[in-house]
Amino acid sequence: MTERFISTLPVATEAEQFRLLVDSVREYAIYLLDANGIVRSWNTGAQRIKGYSAKEIIGQHFSRMFTDEDRTNGRPARIMAEAARNDSCRDEGWRVRKDGTRFWASVVVNAVRDELGELRGFTKVSRDETERHAIEEQVRHNAQELERLVESRTQQLMEKAENLRRANEELEQFNYVTSHDLQEPLRMVGIYMQKLARQADGKLSDDEKRYVRYAIEGAERMRLLIDDLLRYNRLDRERAEHEPIPSGDALRAALDNLAQLITENAAEVVSEPLPLVRANLGQLTQVFQNLIHNAVKYKSDQPPRIHIDAVASGRAWKFRMRDNGIGIEPQYHDRIFEVFQRLHSREYPGTGMGLAICKKIVEQHGGRIWVESSRGSGSAFHFTLPAL
Ligand SMILES: Nc1ncnc2c1ncn2[C@@H]1O[C@H](COP(=O)(O)OP(=O)(O)O)[C@@H](O)[C@H]1O
Ligand SMILES: [Mg+2]
Repeated sequence: MTERFISTLPVATEAEQFRLLVDSVREYAIYLLDANGIVRSWNTGAQRIKGYSAKEIIGQHFSRMFTDEDRTNGRPARIMAEAARNDSCRDEGWRVRKDGTRFWASVVVNAVRDELGELRGFTKVSRDETERHAIEEQVRHNAQELERLVESRTQQLMEKAENLRRANEELEQFNYVTSHDLQEPLRMVGIYMQKLARQADGKLSDDEKRYVRYAIEGAERMRLLIDDLLRYNRLDRERAEHEPIPSGDALRAALDNLAQLITENAAEVVSEPLPLVRANLGQLTQVFQNLIHNAVKYKSDQPPRIHIDAVASGRAWKFRMRDNGIGIEPQYHDRIFEVFQRLHSREYPGTGMGLAICKKIVEQHGGRIWVESSRGSGSAFHFTLPAL
């Protein structure tokens, strides 16, 4: 069978068969160069890819198919030299078709030697990779574009963050300086009002006495506001050390500070055992103190009952402080943690800073604070602190 098939081929010699085989390849330009780079053979693929017919190109130097730049910078000679030195050379680059258009060629050049090892010429196999190259270029371009975009966005964000940081710092500075500077004139108002009241004693009408009292009370209220504002700002300015402490120590210190208030109000504070936490003792004391103070201050007609416990919650401890006070309507649950926000006026004295200070301290410890409550059924304040 095989024999008969071969014998039916119209050509006899092996060389002729090989030539036909090479010639029929359409996807690859396959051709021979002599040792000087002159084109000696040309297949169908070469014609299809490069546009020259065999008649037009055989006898021409192969550098004709390179771009002007490549001819000037000696690329054809370099390719030949490398193929001669290493027996083989690969190259990728722009080549020029007969009609002057360019295509991206992927080329393999092999040296051809005679039996004595003498260089006789080169075989060249090349393929038109223009499409693949265009896709690669596009991908590279997109990647660069993306990188550029990310870089410029990052830059913008960093600038914004920096502006914000600076604005924040200026604001802190401003708050601090103004509150500080306000203290002194305020003290004067208080002192001189009191002097005035003492010297004019007996000569003042009841109305006048009331006005003087209002002025003194106003100055005192303002002093408390400024003190709290300073305390609040100081939390930003002076970052405190956080270390492992028994949170029960903070509670005990808070109760000591509030001893008089607790006795006067016949309040009862009960605490479950409290855990070790990573915190600043002074600041955690402040949190307990502000929360207990509120629980006593916003009591209902019952004597204040306060219950404190802590449960583990993931990598944190969740503290809970429940009271039997007047409660807070749900629409105010966020607002009460803001600076100077209070739900009451004269009937309960205060600056509206207590919970804002708690929130800042808890957040600086990496925790969260919130309240669960409804009017008339007591409140439960929760806050989290990182476990050790
Ligand atoms: N335990 C509580 N029970 C009821 N209301 C509370 C309680 N704690 C806080 N509040 C409400 O939240 C407001 C803000 O509290 P806070 O920031 O401590 O300011 P202040 O106590 O000076 O008013 C209070 O004015 C009060 O209306
Ligand atoms: Mg308070």
